[in-house]
Amino acid sequence: MIPMIQTLIQPAVTGLLAAVKLLRQGQLVAFPTETVYGLGADARRADAIQKIYQAKDRPPTNPLIVHVPDLAAARACVSAFPPVAQRLAEKFWPGPLTLVLPRGPSICPLVSAGRSTVAVRCPRHKVADALLRTFNGPIAAPSANRSGFISPTRASHVYAELNGRIPLILDGGETAQNGCEIGVESTVVDVSTNHITLLRPGGITLEMLREVVGPHDGGIEVFHGSVAPGASAAAPGMLDRHYAPRTPARRFTLAQWPDVQAWAQQQNATGAKLILLTHRDDIILEAPQGQTMLLPSAAPAYARILYESLRLADTAAASTILVLLPDKEDGMWHAVHDRLRRATVSW
Ligand code: TXA
Ligand code: MG
Repeated sequence: MIPMIQTLIQPAVTGLLAAVKLLRQGQLVAFPTETVYGLGADARRADAIQKIYQAKDRPPTNPLIVHVPDLAAARACVSAFPPVAQRLAEKFWPGPLTLVLPRGPSICPLVSAGRSTVAVRCPRHKVADALLRTFNGPIAAPSANRSGFISPTRASHVYAELNGRIPLILDGGETAQNGCEIGVESTVVDVSTNHITLLRPGGITLEMLREVVGPHDGGIEVFHGSVAPGASAAAPGMLDRHYAPRTPARRFTLAQWPDVQAWAQQQNATGAKLILLTHRDDIILEAPQGQTMLLPSAAPAYARILYESLRLADTAAASTILVLLPDKEDGMWHAVHDRLRRATVSW
């Protein structure tokens, strides 16, 4: 057992080499991707994969995503790569798209939580890419947060979630190109059968997928349901409550705003502190009712800072976080809606 060094290292060459050394020892390393930070381990080793589930308190029924540097490396993880998967990979990799395919023998079955399929993705972030190429093997990596809570988009978020549980965090830095530019997890598409299903919306939107997957492919079914904890369903990990702050959080629509305001007034009388996340400057809570965080009104920019904003709101010792649900659901709003529905309860 190596000592926990809990280091935050800028990923200069020394950081990458330290990371690869740990991965080769079957240890965990957190690293940035263009979506969120991942908690990585060698995808071929059961001892390493077990550590991921332990560090995150992750239910053993929730499978992990395997990260690879390119299409050739992805092929080595799976036992079949249908033409439609090939077209999606060629179009969107490297990028925020995860493909669920039949699992090949090189990947540890624990990665798939008992399934015959494996989720594979080729990330676009330069640190992730450098790590994968230097390690020269598949890296299983869920988001680097405690199970059920908000995914990290900065190294400091990973530290707050996993401090004391993992030996190393590679810090991608905070600039626009080095940070998590998408801000929410990758799009997950099941292409393991002829029945193509969007399991999780993300940075590659449904509209973008439909440019590649046409009616002749049978189209794309959108998985709408959610799954009760412990259930082993078609879309594992798509729990009702997920990506959630620790503070009680409630979402509301524009039509519900008058009710929310009336409620906020009553709350204020009891001395409760409220925080509102909104993307409209005409929907705000004014002191003394509460504090307002104004998010961008364009979906990609909103998605990029959504988790950081929820995290900030969560540290403000508020009694309730209120979130205005955006009225649009197209493009990146689809992923934003999905995450807000899991992070909050409805009004
Ligand atoms: O953007 C991302 O995908 C990030 C970064 C680190 O790459 N990773 C990530 O991993 O979000 P995680 O573990 O938080 O989400 C993985 C989800 C699972 O919860 C499940 O919904 C789906 O991917 N998944 C993984 N393997 C699957 C499989 N074999 N069949 C169906 N769904 C699968
Ligand atoms: Mg996650």
